[in-house]
Amino acid sequence: MAAEIIDGKAIAARLRARIGEETAAFVRETGITPHLAAVLVGDDPASAVYVRNKQRACEQAGLKSTLHRLDATTSQSELLSLVDRLNADPDVHGILVQLPLPEHIDETTVLDAVTPLKDVDCFHPENVGLLSQGRPRFQPCTPAGCQYLLAETGVQTEGSHVVVLGRSEIVGKPMALLMVQKGKAANATVTICHSRTRNLQAITRQADILIAALGRPEFVTGEMVKEGVVVIDVGINRTEEGKLVGDVEFTSVAAKASAITPVPGGVGPMTIAMLLQNTLAAARLQTSAQ
Ligand code: GUN
Repeated sequence: MAAEIIDGKAIAARLRARIGEETAAFVRETGITPHLAAVLVGDDPASAVYVRNKQRACEQAGLKSTLHRLDATTSQSELLSLVDRLNADPDVHGILVQLPLPEHIDETTVLDAVTPLKDVDCFHPENVGLLSQGRPRFQPCTPAGCQYLLAETGVQTEGSHVVVLGRSEIVGKPMALLMVQKGKAANATVTICHSRTRNLQAITRQADILIAALGRPEFVTGEMVKEGVVVIDVGINRTEEGKLVGDVEFTSVAAKASAITPVPGGVGPMTIAMLLQNTLAAARLQTSAQ
């Protein structure tokens, strides 16, 4: 049986339309327009494209977005001053510091400086702590996007074995937290694998749902999965020929999977939709706290 291709682009478009309606209602009720401030340091071309896409999505859904572009030579203290200004600005509801930052800047110091109520990436330790206790303030964007795709596809997660490849703070770890918690599209048995995992294939072959987020092009091959697996590919890698590929070798894995996300057009669009949702949530939180 051919695998179902999970159309992240279409699912994200529907979610963004709904967020647009909710945003319009919020603006009508409060007179406040949710506002995302994006900070881009340096001139990494991929980051510039991501930030532009995030801004465009904000505008389409009726949210305000502003971009703070800083030179690659910006010092850490200059960046921290900007973050402080945005933290204190009542017109700004969400702050996104695009990663990676230049090497001379300590990412953890900068991300920790974002006030938790405006941390729409859900990177701050307070928000990660709330998430780990099953009472999230914000949803981690990429993992929540993956979970949303599973829910929309009608995949049975309860009691299923979810194998997460990768233990990053942005995807792997929060992904595992979301899937193991009680609730809709969750209640799974979760294994996290990483570069030091022994006998990886023996574990990935047990996966009912495999979430690949290790950042290695086409790492997961057909022989690493079982028949009927559902595969979520978080990877975005550019080959030497300039082609975009995921962390999953699509053809051999799709031949065995019951459902699979494509790259591009799978997880990527969902991350942006979740960011919009968090920015609206941040505006709600800050408005009700006044
Ligand atoms: N760089 C790659 N992914 C992300 C993300 O989700 N958030 C931010 N801030 N930077 C990123």
